[in-house]
Amino acid sequence: MSYDNIEVRTEAGKVGIVTLNRPKALNALNDALMTELGAALRAFDADDAIGCMIITGSERAFAAGADIAAMAKYSFVDTYKGDYITRNWETIRSIRKPVIAAVSGFALGGGCELAMMCDFIIAADNAKFGQPEIKLGVIPGAGGTQRLPRAVGKSKAMDMALTGRMMDATEAERAGLVSRVVPFEKLADEALGAALVIADFSQIAVMAAKESVNRAFEGSLSDGVMFERRLFHALFATNDQKEGMDAFLAKRTAKFTHQ
Ligand code: HXC
Repeated sequence: MSYDNIEVRTEAGKVGIVTLNRPKALNALNDALMTELGAALRAFDADDAIGCMIITGSERAFAAGADIAAMAKYSFVDTYKGDYITRNWETIRSIRKPVIAAVSGFALGGGCELAMMCDFIIAADNAKFGQPEIKLGVIPGAGGTQRLPRAVGKSKAMDMALTGRMMDATEAERAGLVSRVVPFEKLADEALGAALVIADFSQIAVMAAKESVNRAFEGSLSDGVMFERRLFHALFATNDQKEGMDAFLAKRTAKFTHQ
């Protein structure tokens, strides 16, 4: 399938990489781009050979937000009835294999929300995160007011949402928004390295770990702990659990078959 707003490739036959590609608009996220992104991620999710995905942008911008030029004239009726702007965003939540955001430059508004929808964020040292929607007379619309406080706490999330200021990579790492910061030149390799590590693990255990950590985000502690325990027990029904533990005891590298 060919795309107009993204570039799609695989690495080592097991990592799917999507590069957002609307450079003139700093990768502003319009409906067409979001539809293509959803289709590409769904295709990787359905491909047994792929164990992990990466979403990335350019050096200057991961994504500078939803496309303001496309949104400016919408009415309430347009957005509510047609679910415009936000209608394609739920797809990303339904992806079951891990998705890493490799962020360089601006990740603002919907760009920051897109990065936070990924399972973790690796940032270049020039990354800048923000929820500047308040400056446009609106608020975040793709989970920013929900995921940002869970990631960085109420005070910093309020600061970002109410003042619209940007957070640099150092502050983002300190606050727990991103898992690692590396020089820009190393961003692609760092993200690919992490993705390759993940892709070599049991896909079943990886999906279970993702589901369980997400449960911590979305539910109560007691429900989450019970959910985790049941998934942990269930993994003892897989060949990969036997292989992983046998390999450890035999002091050899595990060879997972994803069964
Ligand atoms: C459409 C955008 C854009 C956006 C940048 N551009 N961001 N176009 N939508 N979100 C365009 C500019 O209009 C400009 O086009 C070109 O990209 C380069 O941008 P400049 O502003 O000239 O660059 P610079 O001075 O370096 O400033 C970079 C910037 C600024 C700080 C990122 O562009 C900016 O503030 N952008 C808007 C960020 C924002 O408000 N995001 C939130 C959007 S609302 P031309 O044609 O002039 O060269 C949102 C809601 C999400 O995301 C809701 C859920 C989906």
